[in-house]
Amino acid sequence: MNALKIGIAGLGTVGIGVVKIISQHSDLLEKRCGRKIEICAINAKSRKKDRGIDLSPYHWVNDCKDFVNIDELDVVVELIGGSEGVAKELVKESLLKGKHVVTANKALMAHHGVELAAIAEERGVSLRYEAAVAGGIPVIKAIDEGFAANDINAVYGILNGTCNYILTEMRETGRDFSDVLKDAQNLGYAEADPTFDVEGVDAAHKLAILSGLSFGVKPDFEKLSISGISSVTSDDIKFAGELGYKIKLLGITRCSDKGIEQSVEPCLVPKNSAIASVEGVFNAVYVDGDFVDKGLLVGRGAGEGPTASSVVADIIDIARGFNKPTFGVPIKSLKDALWVNGDDIIACNYLRFVVIDQSGVIADVAAILKKYDISVESFIQRGRDPGQPVSIVMTTHEAKQGDLKKAVKEISQIKEVKETPHVIRIEHL
Ligand SMILES: NC(=O)c1ccc[n+]([C@@H]2O[C@H](COP(=O)([O-])OP(=O)(O)OC[C@H]3O[C@@H](n4cnc5c(N)ncnc54)[C@H](OP(=O)(O)O)[C@@H]3O)[C@@H](O)[C@H]2O)c1
Repeated sequence: MNALKIGIAGLGTVGIGVVKIISQHSDLLEKRCGRKIEICAINAKSRKKDRGIDLSPYHWVNDCKDFVNIDELDVVVELIGGSEGVAKELVKESLLKGKHVVTANKALMAHHGVELAAIAEERGVSLRYEAAVAGGIPVIKAIDEGFAANDINAVYGILNGTCNYILTEMRETGRDFSDVLKDAQNLGYAEADPTFDVEGVDAAHKLAILSGLSFGVKPDFEKLSISGISSVTSDDIKFAGELGYKIKLLGITRCSDKGIEQSVEPCLVPKNSAIASVEGVFNAVYVDGDFVDKGLLVGRGAGEGPTASSVVADIIDIARGFNKPTFGVPIKSLKDALWVNGDDIIACNYLRFVVIDQSGVIADVAAILKKYDISVESFIQRGRDPGQPVSIVMTTHEAKQGDLKKAVKEISQIKEVKETPHVIRIEHL
């Protein structure tokens, strides 16, 4: 059988990883695919950059958009990044020209996946994106193939290694967010501009893709409620620990008769739950299906080797001749979802108020919670310091998030309440 010819656009962390796997595992891949995988074009922004490996055997193309004019190219591998601009143009034009595309670009798939999937389907080619969600964990394959017999009820994920590393370090060392973030940047776990990671946007891109694939709906990034970890304090982590929880940034997508809810937010999860044991830069995806019950996939969510491993897995599928719909079902069956408004989500919550220690304040807080029908499950106040600010911590039973928001807003207007109240959802996984 003819070799599968690929062109790689983007030779950064992931692109170089892909070149290494394909060159080092050339024989293994040939055995597994029944044909060779051959890199026949490469491109990045700067030709002169030292990338630590010898790229001279490969044909350098000055502009990746010219990949589409190389007739012998079967697959375009887009590893540039970004939801717009050159990455989007390259993917779209390649599909239009009838070339298969493999990408690791979650931003592109979350924002334009449906449009691109429609082109792929119309041209009869594959658009594959295993590496876009949870790096080296084959979660797209797991949901699309391994769990395909199930109606999926929910998918939960620790989808951002930077955030998981920061939260783990904060808990283990008692240090503050900004201090640990600096460390993460020095270690290369966080970008110089960490906003996309720490504010939950990166995890939200991945969750939008997972919602689409799990429930057969069009991914809709705009319908996600997103909050990151920058407001989580070391006090919250300490109190969560006293209550038997750890704090994790969770992507949650869940289907019920009310519709599909999807959110990315810090959550308290029971210390003894499987997902709580996933620490540091590791990612995890927890899938709840009607027949298979609950399953947890854990692994490295980023980095050269793990991410390139998923990219090459997609290339292998194409070499083997597998083709399947981008989001698990043909485009015409991909529904517009009924999304549950964030305010209508029902959840238990952890609340921490910094209040002046004087009589009557707790009664005032309790009265407002009662007004919104929010019942308290547990309460902590450590020590007494009359006239000084102290933390009071409560966990609530299930309540509508919209009602909780109104109650918290009213509580924050009490004169003795200092600081913006800290509210973190509790998930009893
Ligand atoms: N890094 C990870 O662990 C990871 C994990 C999962 C998914 N991803 C996704 O994988 C993709 C690549 O990430 P990465 O970490 O490898 O990024 P990266 O290290 O920043 O590399 C990006 C590459 O794109 C090239 N590039 C930038 N603009 C270009 C243009 N206009 N034309 C051609 N090439 C251009 C750069 O060229 P120069 O090198 O010449 O500057 C560089 O080689 C992104 O979509 C990312 O979200 C990454």
